[in-house]
Amino acid sequence: MRRPLIAANWKMNKTTAEARAFCEALLPRLDGAAGGAEAAICPPYLALPLVAGLCEGSGVGACAQNMHYEESGAYTGEVSAAMLLDAGASGVVLGHSERRQYFGETDEALSRKLPVALAAGLVPILCVGESEGERERGETDQVLRRQLDAALARVDGAALADVVIAYEPIWAIGTGRTATAEQANDACGFIRALVAARDGGAAERIRIQYGGSVKPGNAAELLGQSDIDGALVGGASLDPDDFAAIVAAA
Ligand code: 13P
Repeated sequence: MRRPLIAANWKMNKTTAEARAFCEALLPRLDGAAGGAEAAICPPYLALPLVAGLCEGSGVGACAQNMHYEESGAYTGEVSAAMLLDAGASGVVLGHSERRQYFGETDEALSRKLPVALAAGLVPILCVGESEGERERGETDQVLRRQLDAALARVDGAALADVVIAYEPIWAIGTGRTATAEQANDACGFIRALVAARDGGAAERIRIQYGGSVKPGNAAELLGQSDIDGALVGGASLDPDDFAAIVAAA
């Protein structure tokens, strides 16, 4: 069946020394969890080679937090898929709401990034989710449909199975206000139905994560839902004990 993926999105946190200390603390704690959930760490670019090296052979992946879609060229400050592979990355977070909100990430750019990541063999973790106002106005499904239609427009139906989608309601990110297990499962189920409309087989295999104030105390209930195949964890992923507890809950 679908193997849950628990990913640590560190955002703009941790120097290389802090990243090393985290990995050295985390890896022994995950030893007993082999065969259960898959874990990945998404550090800032500068710590990516270090984290990938420390995690080599452990089954824990190292993912970037963004990527450009061009192969190379005059794009100051950007990083390509080939550079991520060279740094040891196995995946990349795309379209996080913070990138959409603060850095002008667009659905059009995402529609170019997704096929480039897949062609490079990087697992894309595509983030979608509604704002508080959109949920209050009953627009959640509409927003998810629009974001997914746009970002996945250039991905073949069958290849959707290789994408990970993270449902992250913006109102639950960093607020301590977790979506209820029912709200989260409903949204993930809706996302799976959208994928099924394009490819039934891919919908069975695609992993859909929940993200937004996931903590050791609420992880088991969220991860026990039928359509939730993992978590994208922000704040709680900065502490190796908390992150290991969330992986164990899956
Ligand atoms: P928090 O877990 O801090 O709410 O962040 C969620 C998130 O944005 C993960 O990508």
